[in-house]
Amino acid sequence: MLLHHCLSTLALAGVVYATKGSITDYAPLVNQPCPNVKTDPLLRVFTPTNQSLHPREEEYVNKRLTTVVPNEWKNWLGDGSAIGYNLSAFNCNSFPKIGIAISGGGYRAALYGAGVLSAVDARDQSAKAAGTGGSWLTGSLYMNDFPTIKDLVYGNGDNMHGWLLHFPLTTPDGDNVYSENNQDWYDSILGSVFAKGDTGIDMSITDPWSRMISYHFLNQTSRVNFFTNDTAHGAGQLWSRVPLIPSWQQHLVPFPIIQADSRPVGSNLTATITPASTVYEMTPMEFGSWDPQLSAMVNMTYGGTHLTNGQPANDTACTTSFDQAGFIMGTSSNLFNQITSSQGSDNSSSESEVIQLILSRQLAKFPTQAADVANWPNPFYNLIAKPSFQDVNSTWLELVDGGENLEVVPFGQQFVRARGLDVVVAVDASSDTLTNWPNGSSLIMSASRISNLLQSSHQSFPPLPSNTSQFVFTGVSTRPTFFGCFPQQNPPEYPIVVYLPNSPPLNGDSPVTNTSTAQVDYTPELTQLFLDQAHANVIGGFIPNTNSPDPDFGKCMQCVAIDRARYQVNPPLARSSICARCFQQYCFNPNNLTSASELPGRNLR
Ligand SMILES: *[C@@H]1O[C@H](CO)[C@@H](O)[C@H](O)[C@H]1NC(C)=O
Ligand SMILES: *[C@@H]1O[C@H](CO)[C@@H](O)[C@H](O)[C@H]1NC(C)=O
Ligand SMILES: *[C@@H]1O[C@H](CO)[C@@H](O)[C@H](O)[C@H]1NC(C)=O
Ligand SMILES: *[C@@H]1O[C@H](CO)[C@@H](O)[C@H](O)[C@H]1NC(C)=O
Ligand SMILES: *[C@@H]1O[C@H](CO)[C@@H](O)[C@H](O)[C@H]1NC(C)=O
Ligand SMILES: *[C@@H]1O[C@H](CO)[C@@H](O)[C@H](O)[C@H]1NC(C)=O
Ligand SMILES: *[C@@H]1O[C@H](CO)[C@@H](O)[C@H](O)[C@H]1NC(C)=O
Ligand SMILES: *[C@@H]1O[C@H](CO)[C@@H](O)[C@H](O)[C@H]1NC(C)=O
Ligand SMILES: *[C@@H]1O[C@H](CO)[C@@H](O)[C@H](O)[C@H]1NC(C)=O
Ligand SMILES: *[C@@H]1O[C@H](CO)[C@@H](O)[C@H](O)[C@H]1NC(C)=O
Ligand SMILES: *[C@@H]1O[C@H](CO)[C@@H](O)[C@H](O)[C@H]1NC(C)=O
Ligand SMILES: *[C@@H]1O[C@H](CO)[C@@H](O)[C@H](O)[C@H]1NC(C)=O
Repeated sequence: MLLHHCLSTLALAGVVYATKGSITDYAPLVNQPCPNVKTDPLLRVFTPTNQSLHPREEEYVNKRLTTVVPNEWKNWLGDGSAIGYNLSAFNCNSFPKIGIAISGGGYRAALYGAGVLSAVDARDQSAKAAGTGGSWLTGSLYMNDFPTIKDLVYGNGDNMHGWLLHFPLTTPDGDNVYSENNQDWYDSILGSVFAKGDTGIDMSITDPWSRMISYHFLNQTSRVNFFTNDTAHGAGQLWSRVPLIPSWQQHLVPFPIIQADSRPVGSNLTATITPASTVYEMTPMEFGSWDPQLSAMVNMTYGGTHLTNGQPANDTACTTSFDQAGFIMGTSSNLFNQITSSQGSDNSSSESEVIQLILSRQLAKFPTQAADVANWPNPFYNLIAKPSFQDVNSTWLELVDGGENLEVVPFGQQFVRARGLDVVVAVDASSDTLTNWPNGSSLIMSASRISNLLQSSHQSFPPLPSNTSQFVFTGVSTRPTFFGCFPQQNPPEYPIVVYLPNSPPLNGDSPVTNTSTAQVDYTPELTQLFLDQAHANVIGGFIPNTNSPDPDFGKCMQCVAIDRARYQVNPPLARSSICARCFQQYCFNPNNLTSASELPGRNLR
């Protein structure tokens, strides 16, 4: 991963809140002046075979690649001799581009992602790899100016108060929905939601859900002010303002991308979304999709504006402040139904009471789409250039959890051709098996969506086991695995995928990281155990047929990160013998399958 040794003091001065704001800052601003769309279009429309990145994405990433990233490589790999290379033999202007895709899946996934990031950061404090995913962790990192994972999760005793995971997500004062604190809190949640409703924008259950998440993952809530209106609790913090954080301005942080799926309007789909449904992304610059049928983006600052073929209704028909960080996280994680309908160990009865209570109050005041979708005004309505875009005739988009098409790890954004990534690190905390472990289903879904629908717009996926049974049987879902180690072409026909699945401890200890998605409160002790276990597991690698960590796994991570750079040299450099040994151990080789029996004693409880 790309690490920062030299950046332990992030400039936090001047970052303290200028104003506390108000919970009603959740309301978007409507009837705002629009830019002159003739000179400053709100949409960017391209084709799958002639994509372009937003100029500010390109500029940001290039600046990072030329200023910050080369030093990160040097700090991490030294002169390269520890892994059998001479770093100066590589072309310093073309180090591999690395992305990191972090899965969704409630508190479990946020904690697993945090554990992994803490394991791959040299500050042992937080990760600085390029690219991202999973919305709670990602949103939280950026809206807090990319602090260390420790400060982010536990607080820093000063202006950061931690994730407060011991306050249950939907019933922070405990199971009694009618307790005074819970009732005050629901009133505050609804205070935000009603302020949005007053603007005339359609709402849904995603809105209170987004506010609930904000109390944990945005930065204005403490143990002391939780049940009060003393701060805005993250209302008014905008995704399009991420470029204002100090660490962005110094190009220290990866470019963040959050994924949401859609339910084609009128399709009446309820449970799983079909692969053909448009997948959207949300960056601080834009909202839109790289899927071939759309290939268009809208300016994030004006996301929430109804456009007809790219035109607002009039000069003052624009909406701003719709891109609330909480709403972006909520849109990409509509887990409310999963949590409230769970038959898990949690008190689902109190949680379904919450949904009824919130919705009945919301419905009493505003017409609300109760459905489990986030309502986004459709900026791509009637877009003449995209007649086959499936929602071209709808004035609203219905967005749902980024994992509802079963791509729980947000790979799509990482494989976009224009991004040109060489390495994709996949942090998978999906709950696929009965005991909440991943079984590779997300990778198989993404590979299949790419090969069936996205060939013109996305890079190919490297070879995988043919199905989830083979994934489990070969053991690759239970230990770090590298996919795509043996390309046939130069330049390689696909990126390398470094797969870091949530899995039980190497030494056979009882796992704590496979909690249910529906578990929405974690004691501080469990939080600590969880992070420590995820961390130990990720730095441990594996040695076949043992229960010991691999002391060379750190080197193997260096090998896989730098591997694609060999192809940039003419003639390509040979893989070093140290790295060849790593690849033998960690690569998925379709011609020489491994077996789960090489991972003895794992407690899959
Ligand atoms: C590709 O798109 C760019 C604008 O982004 C345009 O200038 C160029 O002409 C296009 N190329 C082709 C072959 O269409
Ligand atoms: C690494 O390569 C550079 C330039 O090719 C050379 O000057 C240097 O001596 C090499 N270092 C080692 C340890 O071989
Ligand atoms: C909290 O978020 C606000 C709004 O984005 C920001 O101005 C402030 O700097 C953040 N606080 C910290 C400690 O990062
Ligand atoms: C917070 O403000 C809302 C109105 O916006 C109000 O309904 C609610 O009771 C207030 N909550 C507290 C704890 O004061
Ligand atoms: C969805 O349901 C509505 C109302 O029941 C119906 O009119 C419509 O044809 C359905 N659409 C599809 C694609 O099944
Ligand atoms: C969004 O539009 C405004 C007004 O034209 C412009 O100043 C801003 O740079 C645009 N933002 C992006 C990310 O394109
Ligand atoms: C502009 O359009 C908006 C949204 O359709 C509408 O509410 C507003 O009245 C219009 N303003 C003018 C001056 O026509
Ligand atoms: C569920 O609620 C009961 C009391 O209503 C409480 O004793 C129990 O600890 C709760 N369980 C969980 C997992 O929160
Ligand atoms: C949109 O509506 C037009 C006119 O009714 C129709 O011809 C077209 O097929 C529709 N497009 C889609 C993608 O549904
Ligand atoms: C999974 O793939 C393996 C290897 O291709 C094959 O033998 C097996 O029948 C497949 N299982 C299922 C359930 O499709
Ligand atoms: C893998 O998980 C998916 C759910 O995500 C499930 O449908 C499938 O049956 C599982 N495969 C195996 C082999 O258990
Ligand atoms: C297959 O992999 C095993 C280790 O997993 C290794 O010992 C063996 O040499 C490999 N065989 C080939 C043909 O690469």
